[in-house]
Parts: sequence; C-alpha cells; structure tokens
Amino acid sequence: MSDELDDRKSPVIGVSGLTKRFGHATVLADVAFELGRNEVLGLVGENGAGKSTLVKLLSGVYQPDEGQMLMEGRPYRPRNPTEAIRRGIATVHQELSLCENLTVAENLVLGEMPSRRGGVLDRGAMIRTAVSTLERLQLDIPPHSPVAGLPILQRQLVEIAKALHKRARVVILDEPTSALKEAEKEILFRLVRQLSEHASVIYISHYLSEVLDHCGRALVLRDGRVMMDRPTSSLDSRQLIAAMVQEEMESFYPKYNDVDRSGPAALSLRGVSGRVGLTELHDISFTVRRGEIVGLAGLSGSGAAELTEVLGGRGTLSGEVVVGAKAVKLRSPADAVMAGISYVPNDRKRDGLAMEMDAVENGALSVLRRLARTGGTLLPRDAARNVLPQLSNVEFHGGTEVPVRSLSGGNQQKVVFVKMANVALGSVVLVLNDFTRGVDVAAKRDLYHVIMRAANNGAAVLLASSDLEELVQLSDRIMVFRSGRIVEVLGAGVGMREVQAAIERTASEVGHVG
Ligand SMILES: Nc1ncnc2c1ncn2[C@@H]1O[C@H](COP(=O)(O)OP(=O)(O)OP(=O)(O)O)[C@@H](O)[C@H]1O
Ligand SMILES: [Mg+2]
Repeated sequence: MSDELDDRKSPVIGVSGLTKRFGHATVLADVAFELGRNEVLGLVGENGAGKSTLVKLLSGVYQPDEGQMLMEGRPYRPRNPTEAIRRGIATVHQELSLCENLTVAENLVLGEMPSRRGGVLDRGAMIRTAVSTLERLQLDIPPHSPVAGLPILQRQLVEIAKALHKRARVVILDEPTSALKEAEKEILFRLVRQLSEHASVIYISHYLSEVLDHCGRALVLRDGRVMMDRPTSSLDSRQLIAAMVQEEMESFYPKYNDVDRSGPAALSLRGVSGRVGLTELHDISFTVRRGEIVGLAGLSGSGAAELTEVLGGRGTLSGEVVVGAKAVKLRSPADAVMAGISYVPNDRKRDGLAMEMDAVENGALSVLRRLARTGGTLLPRDAARNVLPQLSNVEFHGGTEVPVRSLSGGNQQKVVFVKMANVALGSVVLVLNDFTRGVDVAAKRDLYHVIMRAANNGAAVLLASSDLEELVQLSDRIMVFRSGRIVEVLGAGVGMREVQAAIERTASEVGHVG
C-alpha cells in the first residue's frame, strides 16, 4: 500500500547530466529533468535547440555521450528503438514513420502480429484488436485503409493509437500539430488527455499557447541547455519566449505600407476545377494583383491547401489560369516553375527536399531549373555563391555541407523555402502551403519579412495556412473554402475570431464532426 503511494510520487523518467555531441558540436549539454506520472510535459525551444535529439536519446535512436537516464528508478539506456519500445517508451517522431503500404490495422499491431500455431498470421485476430483500440479511442478511421491514403491528421492519430495499443508508459509527441488545422488539433488534444490517464506524455510544439493550455509543466531548451522548468500555471507566453530566445520579441509581423495593391493582375483564375488526391475543386474564379497577399482558409480537405497544390502543378485542373497576361498549363511542377509560379510545400520529406544532398545543393536545384530554361550551366562554386546569401536571408543556422537529413526540422524548412520560393529571383506568383509549419518563432518572423519583401517587389502571394494568426496578419483578404469551393471572402482587418467563426460555419454546414 505505502509502496503504491511512493510509486505514484516517484518520477517515471529522470535524467541528469545528459550530453550529446555530433562531431565537435555539443547539441545537448548537461540536461536534467524529471517526468512525473500522468504528467504532460511541454518541451519547447527554437529550431535546433536540441528537442528532437533529446527525444531520440529517450527513444533509443541515439545514445548519450555522458549522463544518466532512469526509468522508474532503474537505469535506462536503450541501445535501439526496439528496446525503448519494450521498456514502454513510444515515440511519434517529427517525421512520421508509419509504413505507408500497410493498412491502419497492420500498423497498429506491427511488431506483435498475433499468429496461429505454425507461425501463420492470424489476420482476423489482428484486425479485431486494432478495431477495438480504434473504438476505445472513438477514432473514426477505417482499419483496412492503407496508411498511404490517409490525411496527416489520421496518420498522426494512428501513431498515437499505436502507442496506446502498446500500453506505453511514456508517449513522446514531436510536433504533432504542426501539420494540423485548428479543428483537427482539438481531436488530437482530446487524445492527449485520454493518453495522460494511462501514461506520461512529452509534448513538443512551437505553438506556445498549446503548451500553456495542454501541458502541466514546460521545459525550455536553448542551445542544448535547460533554460526553464516550471509549471505552466505560473507562466505566460512572453516569459516562455524570453526563455527561448533570450531577448523579447518586438514587432512580429512586418508592415509594409507603401504597397500599391491596385496594380495590374498577376494571377487570374477563371472557372477552375481540379483534383488533388480525394479532394475536388469546383469553379474557382478570382484575381490576385501584384503585391497582394491572399489567404486561403478552410478545414482539411476543404480545397484551400489543395488549390495551392494544383497551382504548384501537383494535381489535375481544367479552366483558365492566367499568369501576367499569359494563359498557362499546370500539368507538372516543372510547368508551374516555367509559368513563373513558385510553390512552397509543407511536406519537406515528400516533395520538398533531396534528403541526402546538402543545403547548398538543394538550394541550387531551383537555380539549375532556371538555367535549364535559358540553356546555361552551373558550377558548384557558383551554386554556393548563389545560394549562401539566400540561406542567410532566411536566417538558416544549420551546416551547409551536411545532408539536409541531419538538419533540425525548422532548418530543413528554411532550405525548402530557398529551394522552392525563388524569392530573390523574382517569381511572379508565390504559392505557399503552410510554409512555416514546424518553424520556430524567430524564424517565422524572418520568413514573414521575406514574403513581405517579395510582395513589395511585385509578387502576388497565395497563402494557405493552418496558423490563423499568420493568415490574419499577413493577408489582404482571406478566401474561405468548403467542399472545394470558395464560400466566403473576408476583407482586410478581420480578426482571428471572425476567421475561426467562418471556418466553423463551413464545418457545421457539411455536418462535420469533431
Ligand atoms: N544526426 C545528426 N548529425 C549531426 N548534427 C545533428 C544530427 N541531428 C541533429 N543535429 C544537430 O543538432 C542540433 C539540434 O537538432 P534537433 O533536431 O534536436 O533540434 P530541434 O530542437 O528538434 O529543432 P526543430 O524545432 O527545428 O525541430 C541541430 O543543430 C542539428 O543540426
Ligand atoms: Mg525537432
């Protein structure tokens, strides 16, 4: 009995003196903290602060160079992820790791396939346990769908369901909401609450309000050191930012007042229909002038993000798209580039980066494409001369000669930006699909400046974003999508509440649940 009481008080995980180096760089230095039972611990810090590295030490992906880890009072030193999972630590990594070609059910039970005697897979039993887990969590996900066909929210939920299914003691979520829209985040938070009844949670996010609202305690890392470890009840976001970046942030959203937004049209759509994955677009018409920034809002699958993909040459489309004065065809990403449209994607792993190439090589890919158009060639030295200034423009702080695979998530996104945006090279139309996903506060500010500068230089900007604040602050007007159509246009000066309300209206109109 008293044992049990002690048990409840003792931490699930305790680490001290934890240090990790990559070559000469010390990425984590003397990190110490405890994770309590049923606690939801928020882990925050700028891009490259060491959050994912800490997670990878806990989950057995890397081994520490120095320091101690204890789990329930016993030494804990996982040599590989399998060992960490066996000890009860489940991790949903920043880059999702489900097996794309397996079904939801198969993913849930991966590694513990129930078998009949003789080693034959008992498919029936497997599906039954998976379905019961999905039901227990009240998740409406078809167990027999291949994961490859699922939207990001559902993949995210499947990963968490998998952790619950394995009865994990500790569940680590590395930026679980960075790809989700507002309404989807609520579903995820519900799951986190459910999770914390059975397990302890480490929750990494760049959205400070999420940490304040959904975590009991916040641990701030800066340059690999713990800068703050406090209950969120005694914290506000200003204090968190101060611990993260040392100086408080002044004006976050740049204002450029001298833009003439009544200029000539840069992009016109007339009766455009199209399709990306399962989402269809219907009869979309609008014009964006040079220097204008138009926001696209809507729930997942509403068409807002999909429209950016179609314009980036990543879907099918009919109807008329005019860039400048020229009607263009957008059958492939290359078509879009040729037409003067730069598309910045949100999924850096899938269509953003060549992971084995370094930042300069990735950045040079866009330059190469332009040269191909004019029949020129590019030497490596010239690539560096071209790309390095662009990287510094976006406050890139990673190594330029290592595979981008080893960069932090935020730094990877900055490389995507340089690679795809061609901002410095003066594209006519910039199409941004959640382009600051996973990027820290300081870097966001820098990217916003780049966007504003591009608009100021005459680019037309289309901005789909799940970050409502970003949408409201940057856009001259916001078009709200439902079922592949524009259902409402909100003018300049609307607040976040109004946009949120407009999006919620689209949900109730189609009987959307959750
Ligand atoms: N395998 C590796 N080899 C070399 N350096 C690495 C490796 N993994 C991470 N790093 C470096 O360690 C530092 C911390 O990276 P980490 O991924 O932990 O940051 P993070 O806090 O998760 O950032 P983000 O918010 O951008 O995801 C970065 O400078 C990164 O470049
Ligand atoms: Mg990370």
